Amino acid sequence: MAGNGTVRVGVVGCGVVATAYYLPFLMDYEKADLVAVCDLREGRAEACQRLFGARERYADYYDMIDKADIDAVFVLTAPGTHVPFTLAAAEAGKHVLIQKPMATDMRGARAVADAIRAAGVKAVVEPSSSTALDPEYALLRDLVKNGVLGDVLWFSLASTGPTTYGPGLSSNPYGQDAFYAADSGGFLFDLPYAPTQIVSVLGACKSVSAQAKITRADHKIVPEEEYDKFLSHATDPRNANYWDVVVDLPRTQPVKMEAVDNAYSLYEMADGAQGACHVGRIFHPVLPGTGGGSLQIYGTEGNLLFGAGYMASIISTRTELLPEVEDDGWFHIRPRGDGSKAKWPQPTPGAFNYYHESSRHLIECILEDREPIVNVDWGLHITEMMAGAIESSATGRRYDMTTTLDV
Ligand SMILES: NC(=O)c1ccc[n+]([C@@H]2O[C@H](COP(=O)([O-])OP(=O)(O)OC[C@H]3O[C@@H](n4cnc5c(N)ncnc54)[C@H](O)[C@@H]3O)[C@@H](O)[C@H]2O)c1
Repeated sequence: MAGNGTVRVGVVGCGVVATAYYLPFLMDYEKADLVAVCDLREGRAEACQRLFGARERYADYYDMIDKADIDAVFVLTAPGTHVPFTLAAAEAGKHVLIQKPMATDMRGARAVADAIRAAGVKAVVEPSSSTALDPEYALLRDLVKNGVLGDVLWFSLASTGPTTYGPGLSSNPYGQDAFYAADSGGFLFDLPYAPTQIVSVLGACKSVSAQAKITRADHKIVPEEEYDKFLSHATDPRNANYWDVVVDLPRTQPVKMEAVDNAYSLYEMADGAQGACHVGRIFHPVLPGTGGGSLQIYGTEGNLLFGAGYMASIISTRTELLPEVEDDGWFHIRPRGDGSKAKWPQPTPGAFNYYHESSRHLIECILEDREPIVNVDWGLHITEMMAGAIESSATGRRYDMTTTLDV
């Protein structure tokens, strides 16, 4: 670690998520020193060096690991690279932030967890959204643990991707490697947000039974070169969010969906709750007020519902457990942020921005020698909820989880 209370960082992957969120944060955060950027498309590394002020740039990741004077690596490349890149970083003694998914099977996830533990380095595994890193989720978990819902009878969640923008745009508009290729894990592994939210509120998972398949093989995406054009013209490092642009660009490049794009999982939680989780994409808008599928939890003593304009709301017979009860009989948590609507529902100013908070968390954990909240144990469990769904679907049998968490 650098002696002056900063962590020296190298970023691999100068793609959309790096330029929209991580690099602007690292550039501004006083405890981070952005040493190096790396991308095999050299124009992207060059643009990021120019925009975000990294001192060095690399085209080869292993070269960066070897030569750059860094304490930590942010792995922001396509999912197929997450396991080998994290293993190499851990072996070189670097701390790691791993973008989602940690891995697309348990072999990879276990290899990552073992390597991080053996090296004694810190790892933050994305996504940290809907986890205890967000104080409102920590509160909800405490309330549920304290019995505000009684015994949970059932829950449901549909993570179908945003539905708020134009026709035909509801699958990812770009990113063959990141979202469509076989080693990306498809939309199931693109959306670990769903199992993350379930575990954050209800605790560890015990088993999964699932049906998973590819429902739509042919897609069209915006050609990757459009991002290069966007980046080469970008001049404001704090406003380099390609999502704002890509949703309006014509999709002309055919791609094949090679991995699961639609999975129905029935989860049994360690405390006995059972519920359904649908992860997939829809391709047309929904009528406002219909569709969607935010998390709903129904218990013997109360209900916890997300949505309806609130971040979350609880009604309970055990009102003494609630921080407050409003005139309508509910405890509401209102959404933070300035309420502005992005074309793509990314964090609005003032709301919990998981990319920023994960970066801050990793850096603070390194500096203070603390174990991250969203660590490899967390990542292993969430990965197993998705990998278990694939296995259950393939075998036609229930998959019993081998990992657990103390949440
Ligand atoms: N785009 C988003 O809004 C978003 C949101 C949440 C999470 N993510 C996750 O972030 C990761 C990256 O997604 P993205 O949307 O930024 O993808 P992207 O395709 O825009 O960026 C990935 C970058 O990695 C580079 N790359 C690929 N292989 C490499 C290698 N071997 N060495 C060096 N560079 C390499 C590519 O050239 C590309 O520039 C994925 O894991 C995705 O799941 C993306």
